[in-house]
Amino acid sequence: MKNLSENIQYIGVDDTDIDLFEGQYVVPAGMAYNSFLIQDEKIAVTDTVDFRKVADWEANLEKALAGRKPDYLIIHHLEPDHAGGITRFVELYPEVTIVASAKAFAMLPQFMELPAETKKLAVKDGDTLSLGMHTLQFFTAPMVHWPEVIFSFEQSEKVLFSADAFGKFGVYDADPDDWACEARRYYFNIVGKYGAQVQAVLKKVAPLGVQTICPLHGPVLAENLEYYLGKYNTWSSYVPEDKGVLIAFTSIYGHTAKAAEVLAKELETAGVEKVVVSDLARSDMAEVLEDAFRYDRMVVMAPTYDAGVFPVMEEFLNHLKSKNYSNRKVGVVENGSWAPMAAKKMTEALSAMKKITLCETTVSIKSALNADSTAALKQLAKELV
Ligand SMILES: Cc1cc2nc3c(=O)[nH]c(=O)nc-3n(C[C@H](O)[C@H](O)[C@H](O)COP(=O)(O)O)c2cc1C
Ligand SMILES: [Fe+2]
Ligand SMILES: [Fe+2]
Repeated sequence: MKNLSENIQYIGVDDTDIDLFEGQYVVPAGMAYNSFLIQDEKIAVTDTVDFRKVADWEANLEKALAGRKPDYLIIHHLEPDHAGGITRFVELYPEVTIVASAKAFAMLPQFMELPAETKKLAVKDGDTLSLGMHTLQFFTAPMVHWPEVIFSFEQSEKVLFSADAFGKFGVYDADPDDWACEARRYYFNIVGKYGAQVQAVLKKVAPLGVQTICPLHGPVLAENLEYYLGKYNTWSSYVPEDKGVLIAFTSIYGHTAKAAEVLAKELETAGVEKVVVSDLARSDMAEVLEDAFRYDRMVVMAPTYDAGVFPVMEEFLNHLKSKNYSNRKVGVVENGSWAPMAAKKMTEALSAMKKITLCETTVSIKSALNADSTAALKQLAKELV
């Protein structure tokens, strides 16, 4: 779906040659920077795009405008993946009024210098802006994903412009049936820390009767909205989405990897709903983090390294902490050849997270599995079933 309706047109751009989104996320299916044109007595443009794609966006904008001039530029989110075209837009249309939160206007000069005479309209929670038949109502959405974020709701067509919320990795025309996987990876890695703030804004928009959601990334959502709202409600409340065990391991010589396999078999044989085994050094860590949040149980397995824990596991645990990983049951398996320390380090890191229930059994492997450590691994498996 390119155009939403007669009056709301898509003018965003797909980015299929970006190597890493936000400096760290692989996006094999590309990335969309969404922007829309609302044409009525007054004309509003919602957001711009990343610097990388401003020229393409400008072409889309001019074509859709067909000679008319826009009155407003609505900035829902000032992050550079959406704000790259603001300077160019004001150059093209110096008469335009920029609409954003007061926080966005405070931050804007850090990113760009606009002419002093540029008109600005700061909007607060609940404010409305009439375009004719169409009216935009604004809602602050602080920390979904930055402090200056606003949502807007177009009242006549019941369209919610939801900033980064409901966004996903991948292009605009992505298959909606495949939404959850990349939307979940996007959510937990990019917005995941701010579950409470997402919950707050979901409550604000609940009574509006939203019929279409226009996020800043990924496809427009126009059908089956309960599904998407339900997913966001689950994710933002830190409740596990599915029953299952993620085994996140790392290994230098292969013995911890072997133990991960043995544990997975044990869990599968015992009837665990879903077992996912991920080698941290060879996986997209953002994907492993997504699975950690998706399932209700996790086992972390790592060798000792210079009296600490192997670096990629340390990094994984840091990511989990920073994204507010909580409310899950976790088992710990270490390996070490002379003075194993990994379990202590992993347990410390997990203990700094909220509502983590550690399994009673911690498994310590001395170089390779033997009868004792295999028995301990089986005991751990029992605790996880
Ligand atoms: C650079 C380096 C540092 C290590 N530091 C420790 C250590 O401090 N204490 C220890 O018990 N083992 C240490 N080890 C040994 C491994 O933790 C141990 O051999 C373990 O069994 C490896 O498990 P894997 O077969 O899954 O790779 C170190 C290994 C390497 C390569
Ligand atoms: Fe963002
Ligand atoms: Fe974004």
